[in-house]
Amino acid sequence: MQVRAPTNIALIKYWGKADPESNLPLNSSLSLTVDINAFYTETTIEHSSSLEMTLNEASITPTSRMLKVISALSPENSNFKIQSRNNFPTAAGLASSASGLAALTFAVANLVSLEASPEELSKVARLGSGSASRSMFGGLVEWVKGDSHESSYSVQLMNGGFLDELRLLMIVVNSQEKEVGSTQAMNMQSELARERAEYRAPERLQRIKKAFEEHNFEEIANITMEDSDDLHYIAENSEFSVHYMNDTSRKIRDLVKEFNREEVLAAYTFDAGPNAYILTRKTHINTLVRYLLSVLKVKSGEVFTEEPLHNLEELQSTAKYEIEALFEVKVSSTGPVKTN
Ligand code: DP6
Repeated sequence: MQVRAPTNIALIKYWGKADPESNLPLNSSLSLTVDINAFYTETTIEHSSSLEMTLNEASITPTSRMLKVISALSPENSNFKIQSRNNFPTAAGLASSASGLAALTFAVANLVSLEASPEELSKVARLGSGSASRSMFGGLVEWVKGDSHESSYSVQLMNGGFLDELRLLMIVVNSQEKEVGSTQAMNMQSELARERAEYRAPERLQRIKKAFEEHNFEEIANITMEDSDDLHYIAENSEFSVHYMNDTSRKIRDLVKEFNREEVLAAYTFDAGPNAYILTRKTHINTLVRYLLSVLKVKSGEVFTEEPLHNLEELQSTAKYEIEALFEVKVSSTGPVKTN
């Protein structure tokens, strides 16, 4: 049995836990599922005589969170051979835990023929990693925070239509492993995170949901940037200050602001790492990519866009800030799928 699961990018971030044991969050969050054809975790699973796991061909010791997922779905038997592979760099802040734990959940559930709705599976995926809960659906997804295992799950709010007009640019600033993982950082969080979770995040969530209903891109973009800035302000100003954004990340943020000078056409958002996601509309993607690539130099030359980019070399001749790669991706309309 083989499955694939997509990753997701949060526009209203999950940041802070009410219960670290079962990843009950301090606030509800909202994300777009990222094109399953672009980035995914692929997991194959079969019965075995013991539990064996590999990630990207290297053998790994299952973490306690992986074991929680397995035993929630198959309490009697955890003897599986599970092989996972990410098609993007692990721990690059690209939410690999989201696709990884969503894939694990979906793979085990399918192997043991568990009849469970995606909502039910989102609770189990949450035990593995909070953000994985949202990867159980395509489209626009809300993870309702709840206050117990049964009441904390994800739901799909919207799929297709307006979302098909959106594009995401994923800019890999640095694919090296991050120093302070989000789990660790959230565990050190402060009064600042609690305040955001209590007041600002719920208020933004209501506003952004309304903006999606009204197809109000400008409002969606402004709220997205506000919440990303808030997360990084909190991480930087808590007792154990963590700086996830580097000079290049800040340059990207400033470039988006500059691009938006006359009209808000794009939004940046950064997770617990230096890499950027930029949300825009299909109609503006080419102008935006050309604008960015006149300043950001793609070291590896890895630029993936839907439409061919003309005169890339000329465009890059003035670029000074090094990035590793740039990908244009769509919103995924699907959560995890069986691939054989
Ligand atoms: C900044 O889901 O990786 O990406 O629940 O401890 O596994 P754990 O944390 P994780 O945190 C993701 C944090 C974030 C924001 C988000 O995706 O909502």
